[in-house]
Amino acid sequence: MLNIVLFGPPGAGKGTQSEKLIEKYNLTHLSTGDLFRKHLGEGTSLGNLAKQYMNEGKLVPDEVVIGMVEEKIKDTQDSKGFIFDGFPRTVAQAEALDKMLSVLDMEISGMIALDVPEETLKERIRERGKTSGRVDDQDEVKIATRIKVYLDETLPVASYYENQGKLTKIHGVGTIDAIFEDISKVVDKY
Ligand code: AP5
Repeated sequence: MLNIVLFGPPGAGKGTQSEKLIEKYNLTHLSTGDLFRKHLGEGTSLGNLAKQYMNEGKLVPDEVVIGMVEEKIKDTQDSKGFIFDGFPRTVAQAEALDKMLSVLDMEISGMIALDVPEETLKERIRERGKTSGRVDDQDEVKIATRIKVYLDETLPVASYYENQGKLTKIHGVGTIDAIFEDISKVVDKY
């Protein structure tokens, strides 16, 4: 079973590459950002709680995220594995994920970290913001906050997997297909 953490800063291409991975390897896409946006759209209490954090570009509290992921994993039957996109984003989330998976006799196969320069990230997000409708894409301050939160709070998660010998870095600039080819070569070795 393949369980892949696709990692990287906002705008790195996690969502874009996840779509291609789920199709090629028949995996379940678990994007915490997408799940929160779905809750937001449906006006659930979870969505309303997450909204204030997301709109400011800050992280939703760990216990809320972990509970939502646990439920999603339990609700997913007969999966060939998961692409975790935007999760885990803190070391506490990474530890919780390891525990959740070990109960199900599963483990993370590897983390693939997309490496993209900050100016390229900002350009991509600005461009997407024109059509995405995402509040957190609309404002330079929010974009900068998301990148800062990534550097301060999320980057240590890469060391967590590196210490387990599970980290592979991929250059995330170039055509979407060329980057996907590089990712596929890594996944094929898991
Ligand atoms: P989330 O939805 O996870 O957003 P993010 O991490 O900020 O990532 P993005 O969706 O901005 O970028 P991406 O890497 O998926 O890039 P994409 O493929 O779209 O999280 C949103 C918020 O939810 C967080 O700020 C937080 O508040 C909350 N949250 C979520 N998870 C949480 C967690 N675990 N804990 C706490 N809070 C959490 O690509 C970007 C653009 O670039 C697209 O337009 C795409 O078409 C384009 N593009 C992609 N690849 C290329 C390429 N190679 N060349 C040119 N353009 C490209």
